[in-house]
Amino acid sequence: MTSELEDKFQTLHEIVRAARMNLAPGPWDYLVGGTETETTLRRNRQALDSVGFRPRVLRDVGRVDSGGTWLGQPVRLPVMLAPIGSIESFTPGGAATAAKAAARFGIPQMLSSACNPGLEATAQAAENHRIFQLYVRGDDAVVDDWVRRSRDHGYRGFCMTVDSAYYSRRERDLARRFVKSWRASATGLEYQRSLSWDQVKRFKDTHPDVPLVLKGIATAEDARMAVEHGADVVYVSNHGGRQLDGAEPTIRALPRVADRVAGRMEILVDGGVRRGTDVVKALALGARAALVAMRPPFLPANALSLPMDARVLGFTALAAVLTGVLFGVAPALQLSRPDLALEVKDRTGQPSSRRRSSTIRRSSSSTSPVFSRTS
Ligand SMILES: Cc1cc2nc3c(=O)[nH]c(=O)nc-3n(C[C@H](O)[C@H](O)[C@H](O)COP(=O)(O)O)c2cc1C
Repeated sequence: MTSELEDKFQTLHEIVRAARMNLAPGPWDYLVGGTETETTLRRNRQALDSVGFRPRVLRDVGRVDSGGTWLGQPVRLPVMLAPIGSIESFTPGGAATAAKAAARFGIPQMLSSACNPGLEATAQAAENHRIFQLYVRGDDAVVDDWVRRSRDHGYRGFCMTVDSAYYSRRERDLARRFVKSWRASATGLEYQRSLSWDQVKRFKDTHPDVPLVLKGIATAEDARMAVEHGADVVYVSNHGGRQLDGAEPTIRALPRVADRVAGRMEILVDGGVRRGTDVVKALALGARAALVAMRPPFLPANALSLPMDARVLGFTALAAVLTGVLFGVAPALQLSRPDLALEVKDRTGQPSSRRRSSTIRRSSSSTSPVFSRTS
């Protein structure tokens, strides 16, 4: 990264502002928007803001190590890049550019099946830690073919997005008459609509060695179904408020999911995660890692130039580590629910004005060790 860029962008706000000016209104609204009233989108963020820290002091925080491993690979921070369809609309080089940024920074990338340059070319772009995400738009043979291709190209896990039986009403896009290229030519939607737990079971019966992630689980009940049908990872997500409007925020669903399935499967989460502090909250509530969807500031940073992506991730890492230090949780970012105050009162206060740390039960399963320690 040039020092000129470093000098120009010292904060996330500056990056977002510059990126906003770089993107046309159609792609920008597609990127930042949600479904219908965008209530779910707002709630995700408000719920994260309503969680407060209860810092401890006079602990030795001279050394903080946020690294670990996931699926057998080293990871620098418990953060991953979430799958982003049509990423090429925002980023020169599309998913390949994101792969390079993830590799440089040392975190995994979950590649969307609905973007370019596609599974093979993205794998060739960088030696990164990668997982493949599929919208199931074909029969079992089609799924098996994606599995084979992803394995052949070094993807270490396979993710099915399960919250998208129908494409939602994105009113910003409708108002702009903005249609993404892949949607204009989408086929196989009938498979996506008829997807059921049977296909999850079949997947694991057929591919027992492929770690299966289910993305879009939003309740403890479905997390339990995921365990029963053999999935390996439950990814708590409401698609960033881009599918069901009026849904519960993910950070509220997360601890209930953790209570139900912790210890039996891994838990990932996304939904409004923008800063290191958000990552730390997600870990304390039971997630193994938080996914950043590359919305502002992440994705538009790409629109500026590749190194900026690493810079944004760097800010996130810094914030997470600094939070850990101020929190008194060094050397590992190891947190549990009692470290948080839920529903903190806030003057601007969309979140509830009550402080009820009992909203979420504390239980012995609530401790959330971050990634497996490397050392
Ligand atoms: C532009 C854009 C494209 C997305 N494309 C996909 C996709 O192809 N597959 C998928 O499972 N999720 C997709 N998502 C959802 C994200 O993976 C993630 O769940 C969500 O954005 C998290 O919320 P947040 O952006 O508010 O943090 C997309 C999100 C955005 C913003």
